[in-house]
Amino acid sequence: MTVGEAIRARRSIRKYQAGHVIPQEQLDAILEAGMLAPSAMNLRPYEFVVLRDRGKFPGIIRIHPYARMLETASVCIVVCGFSGDGGSQWFQQDCGAVTENMLLQALEFGLGTCWCGVYPVMDRVEGFKKLLGIDSTPFGLIALGLPDESPAMRGRYEAAKVRYV
Ligand SMILES: Cc1cc2nc3c(=O)[nH]c(=O)nc-3n(C[C@H](O)[C@H](O)[C@H](O)COP(=O)(O)O)c2cc1C
Repeated sequence: MTVGEAIRARRSIRKYQAGHVIPQEQLDAILEAGMLAPSAMNLRPYEFVVLRDRGKFPGIIRIHPYARMLETASVCIVVCGFSGDGGSQWFQQDCGAVTENMLLQALEFGLGTCWCGVYPVMDRVEGFKKLLGIDSTPFGLIALGLPDESPAMRGRYEAAKVRYV
């Protein structure tokens, strides 16, 4: 699979085959793909909270009403950023690049993903900080699992969004 093929095949997956166990090597490679994303001044102001135990999923769904796909997902990765001292004013962009890299690496392994935004919805941010016991800013979560649906690829070149100057 080429990078271009992966980009064009990726869709958000919201139904997963329950009970699938994602091998640790795949999780490691997905996290590494995130860490290889470009980062302003190479500060890499982020950390990852990986939830392999589904015990906290119901708590996450209570905080995040649009993360119900976790009902069947195998793993949830919360991408968290550091701003302020020791962090970076660019943490949002960095975390976005990190997240997309992870979605594409997961796709190569045949895994489905859904990116769910957390920051800047502050009640979600506070809820995640408390639930996970973290000081960093939860930026977004990635649901991961073996897909149980296959939404069609879609070509999406929208000429009206491009302006050549
Ligand atoms: C910043 C961001 C936040 C998102 N939050 C959610 C979410 O809370 N719940 C959800 O089901 N999908 C969420 N999505 C996924 C989008 O709904 C999805 O990417 C969009 O509808 C396009 O569909 P596709 O990913 O299949 O191409 C989010 C995507 C991004 C980039």
